[in-house]
Amino acid sequence: MQTANLLAAITPQSRGEPDSGIVRAAMYGFSKTGVIPLWAGEGNLPTPETFSRPASEALARGETFYTWQRGIPELRDALARYHTRHFGRAFDAENFYVTGGGMQAIQTAIQMIAGEGDEIILPTPAWPNYAGPLRIQGSRPVEVPMDFANGGWRLDLDKLFGAVTPRTKAICINSPSNPLGWTASREELSAVRDHCRKNGLWILGDEVYSRFYYSDRGEIRAPSFLDVCDSEEQLLLGNTFSKNWAMTGWRVGWLQAPKVLGQAIERLIQYNTSGTAAFLQRGCVAALDEGEPFIDNQVTRARANRDLVTDRLSSLPGVSFEVPRGAFYLFFRLEGMTDSMATVLRIIDEAKVGFAPGATFGPGGEGFLRMCYLRDAGLLAEAMDRFGDWLGTFKR
Ligand SMILES: Cc1ncc(COP(=O)(O)O)c(C=O)c1O
Repeated sequence: MQTANLLAAITPQSRGEPDSGIVRAAMYGFSKTGVIPLWAGEGNLPTPETFSRPASEALARGETFYTWQRGIPELRDALARYHTRHFGRAFDAENFYVTGGGMQAIQTAIQMIAGEGDEIILPTPAWPNYAGPLRIQGSRPVEVPMDFANGGWRLDLDKLFGAVTPRTKAICINSPSNPLGWTASREELSAVRDHCRKNGLWILGDEVYSRFYYSDRGEIRAPSFLDVCDSEEQLLLGNTFSKNWAMTGWRVGWLQAPKVLGQAIERLIQYNTSGTAAFLQRGCVAALDEGEPFIDNQVTRARANRDLVTDRLSSLPGVSFEVPRGAFYLFFRLEGMTDSMATVLRIIDEAKVGFAPGATFGPGGEGFLRMCYLRDAGLLAEAMDRFGDWLGTFKR
C-alpha cells in the first residue's frame, strides 16, 4: 500500500485534527541550543523525594500487577481527606476516580456525556485539549470567545448561555484558566450552575490550577464549583497531580463525579487504559497528605515570577495583558502580530526564547503569545531581556 493510502485509511477526524501549536513550538525549539523554554505548562522542579519515595518503594516491593479500575482505595480516601481539608465539608472517596492524568479525566468525562453531533460550550482562548478530543470523537466544541478589553478578560455570560442549543450537553469552565490566568468569581460559577440546572446540562469543570491563586485576602485556593454545587448533581470535575505537586510526567489525575456514575466510569477506564499503575498511586497518597509545604513554596515562587514578568513586560511598547489572578501563564498581546505561530518560531530562532502561539488556544487567541512563568527566576529575567531586545527588531 502507498504511504498516502495508509493515511487515507484512517478516520478523517484523526487525520484532519490540527497539531497543537504548543507541541509544534516545543519540537522546533528542542532542536536548537540555548533556547529558554517557556512553552510548556509545567514548573521547572522535579517531583519532591517525599512523593517519589513511596512510589519507588512500592515498585521495588512488587506492586506491579493490574489494580482497581477506579484507583486504589488508599488514594481515593486520601483524595476525600484532601478535599475535606480544603473545602470545610465532608467528601466521600466514592466520588473520586483515578485517571491517567488530568487529560484522561477530561477524555472520560466527554466520552461519557457527548455523543456524535453533541455540543459542548467552551469559552476561548482555552487549552486546546478540549476541542481536539471532542472533534476526534465526532462531537462539536462550540467556542465562545471571551472579550479582551481595557487590559482585562471578561466572560460574557449572556453570550455563553446564548450558545446553548438542543444539542448542548455541557458548559465547560476552566478556572483559573490556561492560558489566560483569568479566574471565575463565585458569582460567575453560581450563574453557570443555575443555568445548567435549569437546562439539564452538565458542568464540565477544570480546576487543575485552583491552588495557583494570587489572592490579596490570603485564600489558598480559587473559587470552585465545589463551593456552589452538590456532589451528586450534573458536575464532572477533572483534576491532576501534575501541577500542584510537580508530577507532570507521572500521568496521574482524577475525575470527581456523582457516585451513581461509578460503573460507567469504571467501564470507560477499563476500555481506555485499564487503570493507573498502583505503585504510582502510592506516591500520590504522599503528595496529598504531605504536600502542603511544597505547594506553598510553588505558589510563592509563581507569584514572585508573575510579578517579575508583568513588571518587565509592562515597560515594553506594543505589549498588553491582564495581570493573571491564577494559574502560571502570562497571555500577552503583541500589537501588529497577525501570525502567532510564525512569530513563535521566529522568536525561538532570533531571541532564543520559547513561547506558545496564542492561535492554538482557539478563537480570540491570535495576536497573543503565552509564556509559562513557573520557571527559574534568573532564566525568566534573562528571557525577558532577550525578548525586550528582540522586540526592537519586530516590525509592527
Ligand atoms: C487546563 C488544563 N487542564 C488539564 C490539564 C491536564 O494535565 P495532565 O494531563 O498533565 O494531568 C492541563 C495540562 O496542561 C491543563 O492546562
